[in-house]
Parts: sequence; C-alpha cells; structure tokens
Amino acid sequence: MSFSDNFFLSFFAVVLLRGVVNCIAKDIAFDVNYNVTWGNDHVLLFNQGRQVQLSMDVQSGAGIGSKLSYGSGFFHMRIKLPNKNSAGVVTAFYLTSNSQNHDELDFEFLGNKEGKPITLQTNVFVNGQGNREQRFLMWFDPTADFHSYKILWNQYQVVFYVDNIPIRVLKNKTNIGVSYPTQAMNIEASLWNGESWATDGGRTKIDWTNAPFVAQFQGFNVDACPLQPQISNNNINCYSPSDYWWNQRKFWKLDHHQQKLYEQARAKYMNYDYCTDRSTHPLLPPECL
Ligand SMILES: *[C@@H]1O[C@H](CO)[C@@H](O)[C@H](O)[C@H]1NC(C)=O
Ligand SMILES: *[C@@H]1O[C@H](CO)[C@@H](O)[C@H](O)[C@H]1NC(C)=O
Repeated sequence: MSFSDNFFLSFFAVVLLRGVVNCIAKDIAFDVNYNVTWGNDHVLLFNQGRQVQLSMDVQSGAGIGSKLSYGSGFFHMRIKLPNKNSAGVVTAFYLTSNSQNHDELDFEFLGNKEGKPITLQTNVFVNGQGNREQRFLMWFDPTADFHSYKILWNQYQVVFYVDNIPIRVLKNKTNIGVSYPTQAMNIEASLWNGESWATDGGRTKIDWTNAPFVAQFQGFNVDACPLQPQISNNNINCYSPSDYWWNQRKFWKLDHHQQKLYEQARAKYMNYDYCTDRSTHPLLPPECL
C-alpha cells in the first residue's frame, strides 16, 4: 500500500469515526433530559435508552416530559406511530408551559381505522387561548417508519416541520396585536385515549381488541435554551443569536426554497384550517392575515 493509499484510508477512518462519535454524542439516552410523567408501567426503554416505547391499553396510556423548561429552541422527536387499527388513539409531541394561561405548540396524530389516513393536527395556544387547529395528511405512512417532527421557536417565528418540510408558521406579529408564545415550555410526548373527539369527530371509538397500541420515540438530545423553573433566569437570554444557533438570521424566516416547500405542502396536504372556518371563527383571526 502506498503512502497516498494509507493517507487516504486514515483520512476516511477519521471522517468515519467522527461521524460515529457525533452520532453517539447526539443520540443520547432518554433519562438525561426526560422523565416519565405518567403511565410508568406502560413505558419501555430500548437500545440503552435511545428509544422509548409508549403503550396504551384499557388501563392506561403513558407520557414523557423534559426535566427542564425552555425559552427557545429547535425541538425535535423521531416518532413511529401505532399501526393497524388505531382509531381514537392520539400520539402527541408538544411544548407546553403547564401554567394557568398556558402557551402550547402541538403535534397530535389522530389515529384511524386500518387503511384510512392518519391526520396530523397542529395547534397553537397563547395565554390559554387555543382553537387554532390546522390539520394535514402525511405524504408517507407514519406508522411504517420513524419520521422527524420539529418545532422551531425563536423571537421571530414558530415553525412546525415534518421531516424537513415546514407545514405551519406563526410569525411574531406582536407589533400588530397578534399573540405570540413567551412562556418557558416543557417538551412532552404521550399516547392517550382521544376517542371522544379524535377520529371522525369522536364517532369512531377505540377498538380495544387491537390493544396494546404502541408508539416509538427517538431523538432525546435537546437543542433548546434551558430555563430552570422556580429559579430566576435574569442572566439567561434565550433569544441570543451568539449563544443559540436557532436565533441566527437564517432562522428568522423561511428561505425561498423552504417557502416553496411550505406552500406546496399546505396546498396538497392541509385538509382543515381554522383560519378559513367561519363557523368557529366568524372574524378572521389577526394571525391569519
Ligand atoms: C425527574 O426525575 C428525577 C429523578 O428520577 C427527579 O429527581 C425529578 O424530580 C423529576 N423531575 C420532574 C420534573 O418530574
Ligand atoms: C416579538 O417581536 C418584537 C419586535 O417586533 C420583540 O420586541 C419581542 O420580544 C418578540 N416577542 C417574543 C416573545 O419573542
């Protein structure tokens, strides 16, 4: 083997090793940042805690939540949904301030009968006010594989992503009276009984002969600005672009390419939008302008 071959090989070995190390460093165990919040006996950890399974049967569902709350971030979870007949079963990944007039940013997958599409419902609460549902069909089978679901939250915008496609944007337009999340939020995920509302408006109930329903979660590293609840955080600026990369200029708005993906995804896959629902919102909500 010549010097150049050797050089080439060791170069590749280093690159490869770096990749592996990065991957391991990023793919950290569940219990570093998260706790089980309910349904302890319906939670299983696999692969040294890098994968978590929540299950639901007639006794209970289950939930997990971050130990800390956060003031900004680019949040993510990889999720594989319950397969087969999951009507009435809701799989959720969301941020919530858990406060009285709470802020909340939601992904909720509304299970369905086998062969019928699963709907992804997104919602936004600010100061305790929700009723801002937008619903989408997925362009893939979310029960077949893991996909990434992400929420960007900085001072300029909140963006919901499915894999790398932005599907929903809430811009900070507080200057024209649009409410925008400000409260520190926890990251939560859960599997729960939503049969009273989730599928066909609550008409299709859970078929318990298919239980337990099982959802898988991965991706427990957290890219976010931590705020300890109950401790004053006057010295932490969660909107600092130098301390936190998701506050940098390129995350202030969608770029041209993302904007195109966003418009396409909404045109093709959005099947409900509160902004155009005059039965629930007689006046156009200001954030919809
Ligand atoms: C999370 O779990 C740790 C250790 O199990 C516990 O000390 C802590 O109070 C829990 N935090 C929350 C927010 O439940
Ligand atoms: C929203 O934008 C305004 C500037 O228009 C800024 O002063 C404010 O801090 C932002 N709000 C949040 C919650 O980021």
